[in-house]
Amino acid sequence: MNSLAIIGAQWGDEGKGKITDLLGEKTDLVVRFQGGNNAGHTIIVDEEKIVLHQLPSGILRENCVSVIAHGVVFEPEAFLEELAKVESKIKVSPERLKISLNATVITTYHKILDAAREGKSSNKIGTTGKGIGPAYEDKAARRALKVKDLLNKEALLKKLKISMEEKGHLFKEVYSVEVPSIEEEALRLLALGDKLAPYITDTFSYLDKEARSGKKVLFEGAQGVLLDIDYGSYPYVTSSSTSAAGVFTGAGTTNGQVDERLGIVKAYTTRVGEGPMPTEITDAIGVEIQKIGNEFGATTGRKRRCGWLDLPALKYAVKASSLTSLALTKVDVLSGLKTLKVCEAYEINGKTYDCAFPGLDLEEATPVLKEVKPFNDKFESESYTSELQEYIKLIEDAVGIPVGIVAFGPERKQIHFRKSYL
Ligand code: IMP
Repeated sequence: MNSLAIIGAQWGDEGKGKITDLLGEKTDLVVRFQGGNNAGHTIIVDEEKIVLHQLPSGILRENCVSVIAHGVVFEPEAFLEELAKVESKIKVSPERLKISLNATVITTYHKILDAAREGKSSNKIGTTGKGIGPAYEDKAARRALKVKDLLNKEALLKKLKISMEEKGHLFKEVYSVEVPSIEEEALRLLALGDKLAPYITDTFSYLDKEARSGKKVLFEGAQGVLLDIDYGSYPYVTSSSTSAAGVFTGAGTTNGQVDERLGIVKAYTTRVGEGPMPTEITDAIGVEIQKIGNEFGATTGRKRRCGWLDLPALKYAVKASSLTSLALTKVDVLSGLKTLKVCEAYEINGKTYDCAFPGLDLEEATPVLKEVKPFNDKFESESYTSELQEYIKLIEDAVGIPVGIVAFGPERKQIHFRKSYL
């Protein structure tokens, strides 16, 4: 196995960072292919918590080269701040960190537009406010700034002017917000470009060359399949391809395939922001899970909504990303609960669905819940109680792929491998 993709199999926050970090030990390259600093990948090393937003989670491994590929929307200022924090712990040279010259730049205007829309528009999504949607909009509208433009004053000014033609009107007439002038924004971005220059490169050819020479590549997804722009619970989604398909457009693979597509799934469900969540628990158990699981967004600090494991959504994520195995995370959070349920199907307008699909009206879904035997495991060894074994088997039987990893805490040592990877 030479390539592996880590894909969120729910609405994000499944614990992808810690699995990437752990598998980083065995890999040569860790590649981000979509999203931006809306991601918050938490890793705990020696009891110290590190949250990564744009840097690939391989950055904490000296053996790994971290790549930010062209499918990413890149926020240069936040990136340099994050890099400075990481550099206080581990040395990062340009040999170990590569940024695609063709990644799309998030500008101040994107952030202001994101915030203005969330504040005023009737289509509130509950975004992270990082300018992700507006940056991807400019990319699709063919007027985005690319990272290479940060190194070229003329191109930068020209493109900023084009991108402001319509936005200037929106800022003034629709949202009444003050924004920096084009010249101010250009100077800010050029100064950032100077600092980024040593890391900027053609990551596509670099990846191609490394993969052809037999290097092991891990593609690190951000968010989750249910937030995918095409596969997710539209319109309450992010603006990128969070499913495994995003690897091919956002980074590229040499042989047209990713050998293992590892879906990360929490033992229950969480969601931040607006949008349907059929298994949401609105009573005291939901609050208990939220507290035990410390379910607060790593990027925005917002409380995450909590619910039972949603098998129709998980089955769908497995199909939509052709997942080959699962990592089941935060199992410890459910251990000791008096009641445990899973959702086996949805009822929508008198029909029963045991697997979601694009466009299924999740807002109208009533979950068909099944009580399962609660488990109370201490996780001192890799042998589990029969109740936990049943819980894992129920998931495997429902989705048809194995649970290859079980994580019962945030630390590297709290993760069990039932299958070998890379
Ligand atoms: P955006 O990506 O900031 O545009 O936000 C769109 C939706 O995706 C919102 O519901 C966010 O809460 C959600 N979202 C974006 N990034 C993450 C993440 O890393 N984890 C969980 N939810 C996220």
